[in-house]
Amino acid sequence: MLSEEHIPVLAEPLIEKLILPADAVIVDCTLGHGGHSLLLGSRLGPNGRIIGLDVDPESIKKARDVLAGLECRVDIYRENFSRIDSVMELAGAESADLILADLGFCSAQLENTERGLSFEQNMPLDMRLDERLEVTAADILKSEDENVLADIIYRFGEERASRRIARLIVEQRKNKPITTTAELAAIVVRAKGLNRRWVKSRSKEIAQTFQALRIAVNHELDVLERLLENLPSRLKTGGYAAVITFHSLEARIVKQSFKQLEKAGVYEALTKKPITASQDECRRNPRSRSAQMRVVCKKM
Ligand SMILES: C[S@@+](CC[C@H](N)C(=O)[O-])C[C@H]1O[C@@H](n2cnc3c(N)ncnc32)[C@H](O)[C@@H]1O
Repeated sequence: MLSEEHIPVLAEPLIEKLILPADAVIVDCTLGHGGHSLLLGSRLGPNGRIIGLDVDPESIKKARDVLAGLECRVDIYRENFSRIDSVMELAGAESADLILADLGFCSAQLENTERGLSFEQNMPLDMRLDERLEVTAADILKSEDENVLADIIYRFGEERASRRIARLIVEQRKNKPITTTAELAAIVVRAKGLNRRWVKSRSKEIAQTFQALRIAVNHELDVLERLLENLPSRLKTGGYAAVITFHSLEARIVKQSFKQLEKAGVYEALTKKPITASQDECRRNPRSRSAQMRVVCKKM
């Protein structure tokens, strides 16, 4: 019954951590193709409820189909999870038994040739998960000054060659705007002195700059912080928050927020160390290799 195109990451260890009543209210902040929601929703009865959020209409369309057969109530909103407060108000749900966020993007978004999230194919440098956002990655490369570009690449990509990459971007855009993934990848290759023939096997070297721009375009760290601030007031006592991260910047933010609220007596950690995928899951779903899941339970 699971979605064939998107395999939900760390789904089994997540289910193992939770005891949910049949009438639970579950908020899936990152609906995607509905993989996690389908699994969780199939455990709910007719009085249970899933409130799903996603910024991407294509993901929402897919999730609607996938979740259509569930017995529980399903309400879907095209909203950023930073607005969880207003979505729950609109949905008439005061608090939830589980709030889940499986961050980042689905493989379908990565492969979408309009979005420019991957440098494996040549595509326009858009990178917006939500096309209602006004600024694309190409806009940032066109208009930000060299220091701002270097800071973005350093902070969000943890890229040590950020200054050299920014300098080359500025040099190149004097001749022609940088508008495609291939152009940006070529600049990173040049700035880092990578051997072109080895680009594929050293793709992590290029991925850091792409990650940086994606984070900047979608304000990923800011919206994550806002979500985490809102969680305690939107969880029932005994309710769970589970966040799956895919890179160290978002993992650090989640770790710090959960730790702080544990110290304040608000949360109990259900994962002393983050849960990672088993060898078997990594083999079945390579995307799960970098996933880390943290789960807390609200105490008061
Ligand atoms: C990794 S996928 C989720 C997959 C889902 N758990 C499943 O099993 O099918 C992440 C989804 O979150 C969405 N997304 C990313 N950032 C978001 C945000 N700030 N607010 C709402 N949705 C977001 C993306 O559009 C994408 O569809």
